[in-house]
Amino acid sequence: MERQHRHVIRGLLAAQEDERKLISRELHDDISQTLAGINIQLTVLTKESTYNREVFKKKVEHVRKLVEKSVDIVHHFARKLRPTLLDHLGLVPALHAYMKTLTKQSGLLIQFKVFPGESHLSNPKETAVYRLVQSALTNVVKHAKATQAHVTLQKIPGAITLEIKDNGAGFQTADHLLRRKRYPRLGLIIMRERAEMFGGTFQIDSVIGTGTTIHVQIPLEGSAK
Ligand SMILES: Nc1ncnc2c1ncn2[C@@H]1O[C@H](COP(=O)(O)OP(=O)(O)OP(=O)(O)O)[C@@H](O)[C@H]1O
Ligand SMILES: [Mg+2]
Repeated sequence: MERQHRHVIRGLLAAQEDERKLISRELHDDISQTLAGINIQLTVLTKESTYNREVFKKKVEHVRKLVEKSVDIVHHFARKLRPTLLDHLGLVPALHAYMKTLTKQSGLLIQFKVFPGESHLSNPKETAVYRLVQSALTNVVKHAKATQAHVTLQKIPGAITLEIKDNGAGFQTADHLLRRKRYPRLGLIIMRERAEMFGGTFQIDSVIGTGTTIHVQIPLEGSAK
C-alpha cells in the first residue's frame, strides 16, 4: 500500500515539474510576446499622432504603462513557476535570489551558508533541493513566527546535506499526530518524498518554543527511484 502511494506521489511530482515547465514556456512565448507587440504598436501610434490632442497622447501613454506592467507580471509568473535562475545560474545563486525576495516580502532574516566543495548535482536533484528549501522556508514564514532562519548546504563524502533551521514556535512532529489530522497537510510529506526518491533521508527536529530544524541528505550517486 505504502509503495503504491509513493509511486503515485512520485508520478505526480514529475508531472508537476513538466507542467510547470510547459506553462512557463507558454507564458513567456505567447502572452509576453503578444503584450510586447501591443506595446510596440502603441509606441508607433504615439509617434504618428504628434498633431493630435495632448489628452489622446496621455491616454495612449497610460495604456502603454499598463502593458509594460503586464509584461513584468508575466515575467514574474514565469520565474515563479519555473526557477529559470536554476537553469541559467545553478543552484546556489538561484537560492540566494529566492531568499533575497523572501526576506523582502516577509521580513524573515535568512543566513545562507554554502561550504566550499558543493559539487554539481544532477538537474532533478538541484530542482529537489531548490523546492525543499522553498517549502521549508515557506513553512517558516507561514507557521513558525520566527525572526531568523539558517540554511546550510554542505558536501560530505558521497552526499549533499541540507539544513533549514528556524528560531520559531516549533511543533509536534510525532507521526501519529500528523496522520490524525482530518485533512492531511501535504507540504512535509512531499518534502520527505523529494529526499527519499533519490535514496536520501529527511528528518525533522522540532522543539516547542525553540524552533525547528529540517535535515536532508541526498546522495550524489544515482538517480530517482
Ligand atoms: N517551521 C515550522 N515551524 C512551526 N510549525 C511548522 C513548521 N513547519 C511545519 N509546521 C507545522 O506542520 C504542519 C504541516 O506542515 P506542512 O508543510 O505539511 O503543511 P502546511 O504548511 O500547513 O500546508 P501546505 O500543504 O500548504 O504546505 C503545519 O501546518 C504547521 O503546523
Ligand atoms: Mg507547508
